[in-house]
Amino acid sequence: MSENVVGICSLPLAIATNFLIDGKDYLVPMAIEEPSVVAGASHGAKLVREGGGFTTEATPPLMIGQIQVLDLTDPYEALERVLDAKGRLLEEANKVDPVIVGLGGGARDIEPRVIDSPRGPMLVLHLLYDVRDAMGANVINTTLETIAPLVEEITGGRVNLRIISNLADRRLARAQATVPQEALTFDGFEGKEVVERILEAHAFAQADPYRAATHNKGIMNGIDGLALATGNDWRAIEAGAHAYAARNGRYSPLTSWHEDERGNLRGSIELPISVGIVGGATRANPTAKVALKILGVNSARELARVMAAVGLAQNLAALRALATEGIQRGHMALHARNVALSVGVPEEYLDRVVDQMVEERKIRPDRAQEIARKLESSR
Ligand code: MEV
Repeated sequence: MSENVVGICSLPLAIATNFLIDGKDYLVPMAIEEPSVVAGASHGAKLVREGGGFTTEATPPLMIGQIQVLDLTDPYEALERVLDAKGRLLEEANKVDPVIVGLGGGARDIEPRVIDSPRGPMLVLHLLYDVRDAMGANVINTTLETIAPLVEEITGGRVNLRIISNLADRRLARAQATVPQEALTFDGFEGKEVVERILEAHAFAQADPYRAATHNKGIMNGIDGLALATGNDWRAIEAGAHAYAARNGRYSPLTSWHEDERGNLRGSIELPISVGIVGGATRANPTAKVALKILGVNSARELARVMAAVGLAQNLAALRALATEGIQRGHMALHARNVALSVGVPEEYLDRVVDQMVEERKIRPDRAQEIARKLESSR
């Protein structure tokens, strides 16, 4: 799958539970090394389940491919010529992958526009292509390279780049959820207060890109974990998500949270999700194949809907923890275990070393070694 391979770098594969999405139960495989992410997703999903589960939707899987056309004496006139030749271009584009076309996908539209750049105006063509159950990068890039000579013939210009856009804003997934106020009551915090604190946390992310970046990072913890487990290109999803978060000229949170008329917490998420269940690593990697089987999705759109729900659950769990007890408490036991393992604490002392470090709130390699030494000498 790659070049110059010398080994395999593995990650824990876990299952997040409690996901009820559009009336269907899902077990969500996640590949991630960070403590508390899987627990957070499962907890968020549990809270949402108490409100009836997630409601989701996804647009048709339309990806955008870009062709950059240069050396035009009149880019606007070239744009008109592209519009006139749209039928020919689409026909040519649809010859590239008869399988996708046979499945009901294929080239849907060509949208030309002239953009200003530091090197002057340039014509950019967007090919809108329904990729069905694929992520789509391969079919889009091949199609762009195939139709590029025709674009040059039509425009009289020179084609430079021919590549997919990761700002997949025609391929959006959305999820919504309501959490009953009382479900948020815990550990000395009334549900009403937790709702209020979560709304304050959301307002912080709305007002401040420094916070919004972290808010969205937490959302992507879950989405990336599922993307990795299912052999999908998480970098593409990341690029699309963050570009989408900045689409209005200001980097913003991908989720939004409100209080409904009954005082319950209502949340939603919308982001581009370009994922596939066929092709690429989804089929070549046996673990990804098994992960897709566990998840039980039948289409890329369904996978995108589940990912949106996972992102929303992850964000809910993070905000709830941050706005109440803080996230360190939940993190601590696993973190302490990692620290103890990293300095070679023997298996027989591991639990006791971990417990003591958590109790003392001193989670450091030197402390792990010290406790292990004491346990050893008192044998
Ligand atoms: C850590 O990986 C993710 C969080 O920082 C997300 C957030 O702050 O919302 C906990």
